[in-house]
Amino acid sequence: MQCSYFDAGRCTSCTLMGTPYAAQLAGKEEHARAVLGSHGPAEWLPAVASRESGYRNKAKMVVGGTVTAPTLGILDAAGRGVDLRECGIIAPGIRAAFDALTAFVTTAGLTPYDVPARRGELKNLVVTESPDGQLMVRFVLRSREALPRVRKHLPALLADLPQVAVVSVNLLPEHKAVVEGEEEVVLTEQQTLTMRLGGIALHLRPQGFFQTNTEVAAALYAQAGRWVEEVAPSSVWDLYCGVGGFALHAARPGRTVTGIETSAHAVAAAERSRTEAGLADVRFLAGDATAFALDAGTVPDLVVVNPPRRGIGPRLAQWLEDSGVRHVLYSSCNVTSLARDLAATPSLVAVRGQVLDMFPQTPHSEVLLQLTRR
Ligand SMILES: C[S@@+](CC[C@H](N)C(=O)[O-])C[C@H]1O[C@@H](n2cnc3c(N)ncnc32)[C@H](O)[C@@H]1O
Repeated sequence: MQCSYFDAGRCTSCTLMGTPYAAQLAGKEEHARAVLGSHGPAEWLPAVASRESGYRNKAKMVVGGTVTAPTLGILDAAGRGVDLRECGIIAPGIRAAFDALTAFVTTAGLTPYDVPARRGELKNLVVTESPDGQLMVRFVLRSREALPRVRKHLPALLADLPQVAVVSVNLLPEHKAVVEGEEEVVLTEQQTLTMRLGGIALHLRPQGFFQTNTEVAAALYAQAGRWVEEVAPSSVWDLYCGVGGFALHAARPGRTVTGIETSAHAVAAAERSRTEAGLADVRFLAGDATAFALDAGTVPDLVVVNPPRRGIGPRLAQWLEDSGVRHVLYSSCNVTSLARDLAATPSLVAVRGQVLDMFPQTPHSEVLLQLTRR
């Protein structure tokens, strides 16, 4: 893939831009093998490739410039806006909405936040696309000052962009380099974006986590589902379950599936999917994955873990090692923490693994491992 922003040095986020895709994929497999070393699986399945461009289902755009000429993209070293609205890794359905969203910024008088001067209101625009082509649009504002104007002009925006299903304002009063703050005000009747994957409707809230690449996420859940099927467990835990992707793909009549997740909102969304799918033996609980495992007093037949980049950490690794659980599926976006966690669970042997390229043009990827007790 070629990118004019990268070639011009305007944006260097995609560090593999220009590297032939086959070489990127081979490099990611090589990297996973090298970092996992002796902890790696006996068998690697062929890597799952992604479309090279337009794969990102979520765009996080810093808003700069002026209210009459806003930029959507990043900030340069001096804190001025650099427009990247043609960014090629963002899903085309999101890119197509940018011009109308920029016009909305002007109409609603949302002054872009000026980082060096610490003035202005609109900091970021975050847009997510569902597999059905619906959009969730979030305006990250410094304060509530502009909220009435967003409300006032919202009907016109929805008329202009009928694919927009959810609109919210996120409040980020602090002057810090993060994408969003704690408080979210949803302005549309529809509160969540429906992400239909593998015949299951997952529900994404504005602040919720969702895998970045919808097609590769579908492949990840499907692969995990096949490995669960081979083991045919009667009980499964999905730790770090988010909105329930792994848990809901592992559900079968008579199999108890428990999802654990710190975000109560994500748990509520997962519960909704479970209810809609009529899955009586699946439940989702809000809580810390490690505390849940340590306090449960039982051990399931199979555990799925899909932690944040930091990995599962020493306490949960020790519990997995000592618990006697026979089967573990570990889905990781960081092979370094994965290698550390595997070193702490020597009784669990990686039998099969697969690299899934969730993030083309960048060095990142997802690795799914099937572990079995020695
Ligand atoms: C990489 S995401 C995976 C989510 C989900 N498995 C999916 O496929 O979308 C990690 C998730 O772990 C959650 N999380 C972070 N720390 C946690 C903890 N200590 N216990 C349980 N969940 C946690 C996050 O809120 C996030 O939803």
